Amino acid sequence: MDGTLSANDLSHIVTADKAHVWHHLSQHKPWEVSDPNIIIEGKGLRVWNQAGKEHLDAVSGAVWTVNVGYGREEIARAVYDQLCKMNYFAGAMGSVPGALFAERLIGKMPGMSRVYYCNSGSEANEKAFKMVRQIAHKRYGGQKHKILFRDRDYHGTTIGCLSAGGQDERNAQYGPFAPGFVRVPHCLEYRRHEQEGAPSENYGEWAADQIEKVILREGPDTVGALCLEPVTAGGGVIAPPEGYWPRVQEICRKYDILLHIDEVVCGIGRTGTWFGYQHYGIEPDMVTMAKGVASGYAAIACLVTTEAVFDLFKTDETDPMDYFRDISTFGGCTAGPAAAMENMRIIEDEDLLGNTERMGAYMTARLHDLMDRHKVVGDVRGKGLFLGAELVSDRESRDPVSEPLVKKVVADCMAQGVIIGATNRSIPGRNNTLCFSPALIATKDDIDEIVTAVDGALGRVFG
Ligand SMILES: Cc1ncc(COP(=O)(O)O)c(C=O)c1O
Repeated sequence: MDGTLSANDLSHIVTADKAHVWHHLSQHKPWEVSDPNIIIEGKGLRVWNQAGKEHLDAVSGAVWTVNVGYGREEIARAVYDQLCKMNYFAGAMGSVPGALFAERLIGKMPGMSRVYYCNSGSEANEKAFKMVRQIAHKRYGGQKHKILFRDRDYHGTTIGCLSAGGQDERNAQYGPFAPGFVRVPHCLEYRRHEQEGAPSENYGEWAADQIEKVILREGPDTVGALCLEPVTAGGGVIAPPEGYWPRVQEICRKYDILLHIDEVVCGIGRTGTWFGYQHYGIEPDMVTMAKGVASGYAAIACLVTTEAVFDLFKTDETDPMDYFRDISTFGGCTAGPAAAMENMRIIEDEDLLGNTERMGAYMTARLHDLMDRHKVVGDVRGKGLFLGAELVSDRESRDPVSEPLVKKVVADCMAQGVIIGATNRSIPGRNNTLCFSPALIATKDDIDEIVTAVDGALGRVFG
């Protein structure tokens, strides 16, 4: 740490935090007798807490966000320069970085054409849901309004997004939810034995066919959109198997259903392509993104659509209701696109997509080595630098290990100075997947350090 904060300053910060900050996703009772971690500084993949302890962050700010790593002065400078010149104007007007980043972003997304700015992944998904509803009203007398979402997927924290939430523990106690959202089955091949009728071959196509069954049950003329994560994140790091996506695309086209891909986690490089869906050759109608867009240097989220979707909102200029009547106050902040543009430049100049592919393959291989050493590791999966390891008490039955044991592995790594993640408060009885998503600048040495820490932790917790 650079020493700009004295011991007294740090002690005051901890006191103020404990007295007044309500932390996200946290049970506060234990902090009545202990201190929360306060992250003071970061550089590259490393962060330091209030005690000066160094940690290797294997989860990019805990929630898959800091794709280009900490301490990027060039992003800070770009934001500073932009804010001095023009910090904000509501998005009904344009801005210099807004226009230029949109152009650059669309350049990475063949087939897409319009960028709608807002400030969180949840908000971007809400906008997409609103568009689906408005299209239903404009074109289908309100009938084609249902939005399908998948078991185990997550799309955000608002009541609207939780209505499209496939993680029962995350939803619990927050209902009732909005009507018109319908769940379809998951596509986690490792757990196909828990799905009635799932075959051992061509599972991907079968899983997609289950979506069609739901559409036919609901009535295709009532279904407006299908919202999916390209690789499910908090629901267990699930990369759909071969055969899944082409069939999904086919089904959407067959029933005139918009395909909305939630790239909030996968977007901007995490899986080794600009967007997760680009691994699968699919053509979405709407794409939402947030976390890695500016690597957490500024808040920004985008809903990107095709020109065909955009066109639906400008058919009749004499009709005062015939446009997307939506605003996001902070979607007009210029810091977001200014940071996003520099973030994208760094990814290009440093070939971080290439690094993600190479280091993702290396890390996958190292995690597979762990499978040989620890029978508790039942499955290793993911894409690029977005990986998971599912822990089971028995490889044959695939019974999950209990959640307190998963937490012990995470805590052991933390004690060793390596921050890893685990699925939590997500799927009842199935929060048993360790999560890894180091910054896209990770080296072999970083990955070795992460895997060595996990190796030690698994040995201590499971013997
Ligand atoms: C796939 C996915 N979509 C949407 C969101 C919501 O994003 P935000 O927390 O920025 O609202 C998340 C957050 O973790 C996510 O993982």
